[in-house]
Amino acid sequence: MGIRRVQKIVFFFSLFVFAINSSLFAQNAKIKININRTIGHISQNLYGNFAEHLGRCIYGGIYDPGSPLSDKDGYRKDVKKAVKNLHVSILRYPGGNFASNYHWKDGIGPKDQRPARLNLAWGNLDSNHFGTDEFIKYAREIGAKPYLTVNMGTGTMREAQEWVEYCNSKPGPYYANLRKKYGHPKPYNVKYWSLGNEMDGPWQIGHLNAEDYSKKAHHFAHIMKLTDPSIKLIGDGAANFRPGATPYKWDHTVLQNLKNDIDYLSMHMYVGNVDSSYYDFMATPLAMVKRTKVVKGMIKEAMQTADRGNRGPIHIAWDEYNVWYRARGGSKMVGNHALEEHYNLEDALVIAGFLNGFVRNADIVKMANLAQLVNVIAPIFTSKTDMYKQTIYYPLQLFAEHVKGTSLNVAVQSGTYNTDKFKLGLGERSAKFKNVPYLDVSASYSKKNGQVVINVVNRNKDKAITTDILSQNNKFDGPFKVYQVDGPNVRAKNDFHHTPVKTQQKSDIQANGSKMTYTFPPHSFTMLIGKISTK
Ligand code: AHR
Repeated sequence: MGIRRVQKIVFFFSLFVFAINSSLFAQNAKIKININRTIGHISQNLYGNFAEHLGRCIYGGIYDPGSPLSDKDGYRKDVKKAVKNLHVSILRYPGGNFASNYHWKDGIGPKDQRPARLNLAWGNLDSNHFGTDEFIKYAREIGAKPYLTVNMGTGTMREAQEWVEYCNSKPGPYYANLRKKYGHPKPYNVKYWSLGNEMDGPWQIGHLNAEDYSKKAHHFAHIMKLTDPSIKLIGDGAANFRPGATPYKWDHTVLQNLKNDIDYLSMHMYVGNVDSSYYDFMATPLAMVKRTKVVKGMIKEAMQTADRGNRGPIHIAWDEYNVWYRARGGSKMVGNHALEEHYNLEDALVIAGFLNGFVRNADIVKMANLAQLVNVIAPIFTSKTDMYKQTIYYPLQLFAEHVKGTSLNVAVQSGTYNTDKFKLGLGERSAKFKNVPYLDVSASYSKKNGQVVINVVNRNKDKAITTDILSQNNKFDGPFKVYQVDGPNVRAKNDFHHTPVKTQQKSDIQANGSKMTYTFPPHSFTMLIGKISTK
């Protein structure tokens, strides 16, 4: 063989290898939908959020009296518009860590008589000008259910009882009369109440061990339920996932001890790309799913011996989750600009991964609250004169608006990858995952209108994935709308004048009977919305 021929063969072989390893050749995958293969009802409470007295979440975010951008009540109008568009279903307040030293009576009545207090959790001063009445009004205006966390640090069960009375009792008793006196004769009917916040964490004011927490929470639950038997109670699952902590032991003890008292077990998770490894970071939602499945088993065990009357089983509330690692630690944790995290595209894909995980576990996860709403690890970021939507806003918005009804158990065939051992987040434990699918998928089906929504994260950083989407029993009915969140690269960020990462509507896909094909671009989130015929 001549030298030129060998050179030619080597050249074409190298080109072939390059093409395989690059985006020149798209990967292939299959998604199979069957509207009879279901997981459970998707609670609208999966699209919750959280507003804490922390940094500029409330003061300078939600609430900025005196600003030309605010309405007569002091709520920022531009922020409220963006919040409404986010379809927040349930809003948690007033903390977080702040709750463990919050005395709710400081935040009611004439504003000029409310005492300013040190915010011991987050190192600044709280004027108390935003309190229960301002929160409830805001929640109503944005169309969210209010969710309150009682103080189990420096607070007493009597204070918790009086708060339930203030919010939920008809005029008659003292605190309900006080609510009436302050202009709110009708009960607020706050349904969701959390028994403390992260009470296992050594950082929490008044933190406890699992046995002591269970005893204290049982007494709080008792007196709160005597005041309003219709409330739903959320007990603390473990938040301390630091090396050396025993989170599953905490969860198990609390579930066994509070199995007749609580309706949800609260869980929290913050992840981050601490080792600057895109693929490891993309796998972090799998840690949430793993924890969900382990705790689901514990709940099943606890329910075997529970005596709950007709209250149904305990569910999981992921009432804090997000990406949080850059604005974390030391001076970034305190003061008026605490926890101001600026999000990029890869963060938005991780949030889409969390949402996919919640939907795929919709039988047990019945509440989820992104932490938090404005400025503080948040989808909305303000200045005194402007605001913008961070990257994570977009998947959240799409899910909350469209993913409803029943969660489908989707069959997915796609390429996979393995991670090394990596840190899930700052100060968190390490994890390692095998066979992480490049395509992360969930789907919902609404019987009411035959609508199917398919949610797909393409975790592949460089390659598009051409995918056959098959309906296994009924035919697709008409074209599918395509909404896509992507950007020029995985580190792309938005700011006040620049929005490289946002939702874009692409051309519809024409389905052909039971099959349609779509190519998911690299590092993207795509939502497909259409119908399946039931005829
Ligand atoms: O969301 C920020 C903080 O994170 C919350 O106050 C606390 O509950 C968690 O540790």
